[in-house]
Amino acid sequence: MDKMAVTGGAGFIGSNLAEHLLSQGHEVLLIDNFSTGRESNLKLWAERAGDRVKLLRADVNETEKLRHAFRGVLYVFHQAAIPSVPRSIEDPKGTESSNINGSLSLLLAARDAGVRRVVLASSSSVYGDDHNLLQVEDPVGRPHSPYALSKSVGEQYCRLFYELYGLETVCLRYFNVFGPRQDPKSEYAAVIPRFCTRLLGGKRPTIYGDGEQSRDFTYVANVVEANWRAATHAGAAGEVFNIGCGIQTSLNQLIGILNGILDIRLEPIYEPARKGDIRHSFADVKKAERVLDFHPAIDLQEGLKRVVGWYREHPEDIHGVA
Ligand SMILES: NC(=O)c1ccc[n+]([C@@H]2O[C@H](COP(=O)([O-])OP(=O)(O)OC[C@H]3O[C@@H](n4cnc5c(N)ncnc54)[C@H](O)[C@@H]3O)[C@@H](O)[C@H]2O)c1
Repeated sequence: MDKMAVTGGAGFIGSNLAEHLLSQGHEVLLIDNFSTGRESNLKLWAERAGDRVKLLRADVNETEKLRHAFRGVLYVFHQAAIPSVPRSIEDPKGTESSNINGSLSLLLAARDAGVRRVVLASSSSVYGDDHNLLQVEDPVGRPHSPYALSKSVGEQYCRLFYELYGLETVCLRYFNVFGPRQDPKSEYAAVIPRFCTRLLGGKRPTIYGDGEQSRDFTYVANVVEANWRAATHAGAAGEVFNIGCGIQTSLNQLIGILNGILDIRLEPIYEPARKGDIRHSFADVKKAERVLDFHPAIDLQEGLKRVVGWYREHPEDIHGVA
């Protein structure tokens, strides 16, 4: 039984990843400061795992605590971050503290504790104003937000720790992840939870901009699988990978698909575009296919059906959505 740590384990992606690792028989240490994470995300699955799961309520900036906690840990899946572009524009220092200083503290602790590999949750936002339609890992453009900058710096630290100290690191640039447990209520909520819960509540969803901006939406189980491959594939150390589906969908198309799944016809309300948002995000996943043998198993339509099912089963997540 191997021991692994998931930072941000009470968050959306971290809790899905931790649940999967436990289902594979591993021992999992969750680390979270509950800034955006929720106790409800740990319900049932964490309780069922008994003493194979432990929770450390800590900030990733607490290097000493992490150094101690990482003893005997094989892989660290670093998901903890303030994950929002608009929030980073309102509070750049908060984003810097969690995402840049926090990642540096974590890498120091992992290096000192003898962790074999750290997998960092990076983001497609690092591509910034890269004008190529299809985003390939190299080169990236200028970041459009403190959030994008923080992810880019996190990647650079990972590279340096690999080159300077021999700590194996892998960075995964996630492209718009969605799935169960993604919080629809936060004022910074992502589009799929916002759209799903509005439509399920019989309300028209809001699009910022003309709706022709596009994203490469990626179901969370694909991201969980990519993390495992990134941790275990020999050739991945020191590398950066796009993790998406390689399919471009506009927000107008997304609303159309959701209306189809729900068998309704609710048109969006259009509001002015928001600062910091990129126009198109579209992953070239050839490198992940080649090196990690990564092939996203769940497509957008199937993922949306599952997530609609999830919100239907969790009406508490729909109640009170603005
Ligand atoms: N959801 C997406 O579409 C997406 C896309 C690209 C990258 N990412 C990255 O994936 C990771 C997970 O995102 P998510 O969508 O699950 O967000 P989330 O907000 O649900 O999870 C983040 C978790 O990190 C915790 N956290 C934040 N700062 C912390 C700190 N300083 N110390 C300890 N814990 C802290 C939060 O409490 C929360 O549980 C983040 O690094 C995010 O930037 C997400």
